[in-house]
Amino acid sequence: MTTDATGTSVTEQALAALRGTTDPRLRELLTGLVRHLHDFARETRLTQEEWEKAIAFLTATGQSCTDTRQEFILLSDVLGLSMLVETLGGHHTPGVTESTVLGPFHMTESPVRALGDGIDLVGGGEPCVVSGRVLSADGTPLPGAAVDVWQADDKGYYDVQQPGVQPAGNGRGLFTTDAEGRFWFRTCVPAPYPIPTDGPVGDLLRATGRHPYRPAHIHFIATAAEHTPVTTHIFVAGGDYLDSDAVFAVKRNLVQDFAMTDDPPLAREFGVPNPFRHARFDLVLERAS
Ligand SMILES: [Fe+2]
Repeated sequence: MTTDATGTSVTEQALAALRGTTDPRLRELLTGLVRHLHDFARETRLTQEEWEKAIAFLTATGQSCTDTRQEFILLSDVLGLSMLVETLGGHHTPGVTESTVLGPFHMTESPVRALGDGIDLVGGGEPCVVSGRVLSADGTPLPGAAVDVWQADDKGYYDVQQPGVQPAGNGRGLFTTDAEGRFWFRTCVPAPYPIPTDGPVGDLLRATGRHPYRPAHIHFIATAAEHTPVTTHIFVAGGDYLDSDAVFAVKRNLVQDFAMTDDPPLAREFGVPNPFRHARFDLVLERAS
């Protein structure tokens, strides 16, 4: 087979080679991918040297991945693709908690904790309490819902980034809502942090003159029977980088006050010194269709 000078023929051949794909969705995805990749190469006049550099970059990205580091998710995050996919797949029911990116630091097995437990196993940061309810979109509380939370420590590192420095499970917890759909836990006020810059994604950020910071946040995944799970964060209101998140994940409705609260009985109930910072955040789930 021959190709013409613009590469059009090889595009047609590559597309034709996909016609035997029996899974129609896979065929659609691969056809779109080939079409856009070929258009990209034509539009940018991609050179052999540049293509080889890109292959080396992707290879290094894969080689940077370990059981506790996911450089490909990070790459997707900094290109805005993770957030775009989240948004495309999101719900449209008013009042339901908005989703945002999973990020690269979620562990499949968060430590199971009791309501009220602390997830800051080290201390040193500013104590706070996070409380709320898991609700169905019609306002019905959802008892027995799973609330998986994870956050960086007060210096901006996740436990998996500092094995031997932080205890495993620091900043993480898997909670179950009570009979009224409530959850609450103690932690420290999270700080902004840079995403890892010692790998290929860091090289990309430096090459593009971008800062690596994420605004302070706590991650959540809420799961309840007969409802669509939500993966989201809460962001600390008034913090830095809310308008320039390195992974484009901030949504206005997810920015929450960690308000200073002067309430001695409540502080005693939560087991924290009074006054204390308190974020209240309900997780509202859409009923699965
Ligand atoms: Fe994070």
